[in-house]
Amino acid sequence: MCWSKYVRGPQSAVHRLKPGKRQKPMRLEKIEHIGIAVKDLGEVSGFYKDVFGCSISKQIDVPDMRLKIALTDVSGVKLEFLMPTDSQSTIAKFIDKRGEGVHHICFEVHDVDQAVEELQEKGLELVDKPRMGSEGKKIVFLSPKSTHGVLIELKER
Ligand code: CO
Repeated sequence: MCWSKYVRGPQSAVHRLKPGKRQKPMRLEKIEHIGIAVKDLGEVSGFYKDVFGCSISKQIDVPDMRLKIALTDVSGVKLEFLMPTDSQSTIAKFIDKRGEGVHHICFEVHDVDQAVEELQEKGLELVDKPRMGSEGKKIVFLSPKSTHGVLIELKER
């Protein structure tokens, strides 16, 4: 069943609803991207190009996260390669502990604030508060302690 046409209506009816009168519960719309922690962005980009024929975006600086990222698109699902730019980056700490590899899965949702409210009501922990991501869309990370070990990012459409 598809709720999206109702939920996505003119300037989000959800915001006008009183608490407890939400129209539809949140749902995961699609996998937006998969975040992969890497040591050397140039090397990994070359690998995906040569081996899998992917075209890779330019490197994007994300100074507040101490990261450089590059993206590729696989039939609408992006791979987001994350390279730490210094040892204090959370990605550097992840690589130290677990090595390179899948770091998080990002799902698109209709409304991050609504999702957070619902998830907190259900007792889930967030890593931090919702904030603007590098693409100017609102994002939030859910603690893997609350999600059976997967770091989940939610991103607003
Ligand atoms: Co991400």
